[in-house]
Amino acid sequence: MTAQTALAVTPPTLDVERIRADFPILRNVHPHGKPLVYLDNAASGQMPQPVIDRLVRYQTHEHANIHRGVHTLSETATAAYEDARRRVQKFLNARQEREIVFTSGCTEGVNLVMHGYGRRFIGEGDEIVITWLEHHSNIVPWQMLCEERGAKLKVVPIDDRGDVILEEYERLVGPRTKLVAITHVSNALGTVNPVKQMIAMAHAHGVPVLIDGAQAVPHVAVDVQDLDCEFYAFSGHKIFGPTGSGALYGKAEWLEKMQPFKGGGDMILSVTFEKTTYNAIPAKFEAGTPPIAAMIGLGEALDYVGRIGLDAIAAHEHELLAYATEKMSAVDGVRLIGTARQKASVLSFYVGEVHPHDVGTLLNEDGIAVRTGHHCAQPVMQRFKVPATARASFALYNTFEEVDALVASVRKVQQLFA
Ligand code: ALA
Repeated sequence: MTAQTALAVTPPTLDVERIRADFPILRNVHPHGKPLVYLDNAASGQMPQPVIDRLVRYQTHEHANIHRGVHTLSETATAAYEDARRRVQKFLNARQEREIVFTSGCTEGVNLVMHGYGRRFIGEGDEIVITWLEHHSNIVPWQMLCEERGAKLKVVPIDDRGDVILEEYERLVGPRTKLVAITHVSNALGTVNPVKQMIAMAHAHGVPVLIDGAQAVPHVAVDVQDLDCEFYAFSGHKIFGPTGSGALYGKAEWLEKMQPFKGGGDMILSVTFEKTTYNAIPAKFEAGTPPIAAMIGLGEALDYVGRIGLDAIAAHEHELLAYATEKMSAVDGVRLIGTARQKASVLSFYVGEVHPHDVGTLLNEDGIAVRTGHHCAQPVMQRFKVPATARASFALYNTFEEVDALVASVRKVQQLFA
């Protein structure tokens, strides 16, 4: 191998200590007198100082309502909000700014597609294909639509590792399918779905695809043109931005055909009591005053992640997850739930017969924050015959020492109940 090719395949390294210095909460919070070990990133990421500073600057110097004023402050706020949209466009590599609709988060993005596309194009006897890995927010809206329209929900099963069974997917997508709606990364198991392949398989039947990217964007570089999906939804707070922010990417030709989700100000061109004409995309889907500061913060968060680089982040997290998987597997009585071939960020586990809530409570006493419960993915729990799991989920600022602290604490739990 030449030096040049060796360089080309070496992933960039991450200066984790420098990154940690950007996140004030990691040094300020010491529950039970212990340094915080924050391993609940799949629930919500923490916010770096540049995002906090941007929110303060906006609220201190730039706040006014957007798209509505000719005064300077309103123009400044509008410019910042639309600049955030361009940052989302760049982050996802969308063709056009107007393909980015701001939402309150991934859940709203999925619901927007359900109302805007589903209610217009899905009828009796039609089918919607999802996978067994979905979060409730990519199950329930489709059940509601099926109930309303007499359509059918088809669920692609997963195997014992937590991988989608692609032969079953191929079998389920057919002439009646009107939409495939699948997660990119499972929040409960960490499985990375082969979404590019699954999108191509759906397209072979002319079926549009919605990707739930909530758990993917902080860990995997996303290029919507390369994926060629019709829709891609994500939340800002999982990628170190504010809660209440998020975006839905939609191919312009689909967004234009869709009906608006919410009615109100800013989404119209003209209103009379007889008839309303709608604004162009994306405004057609953004009725009412949005959380302006949150979207500006989201733009800053995406730039922050972009500056560090998702290749470097993914390489670091991959090593952390491999290390954690090996160490946890060596603890007596620990059962890992979800061992897919390709995983990102998530380690779900069960310790002996100890209820995951007790595991989480005991880990908290050591300053370790994990999520316990069904992770809003009850079908996944049913598939693995567990009521819940404890879930550690990693982000760019986590360290190998933190994994050691997790493993030591889990070992204590195991010994306590042995
Ligand atoms: N969807 C979030 C999680 O997985 C809340 O924890």
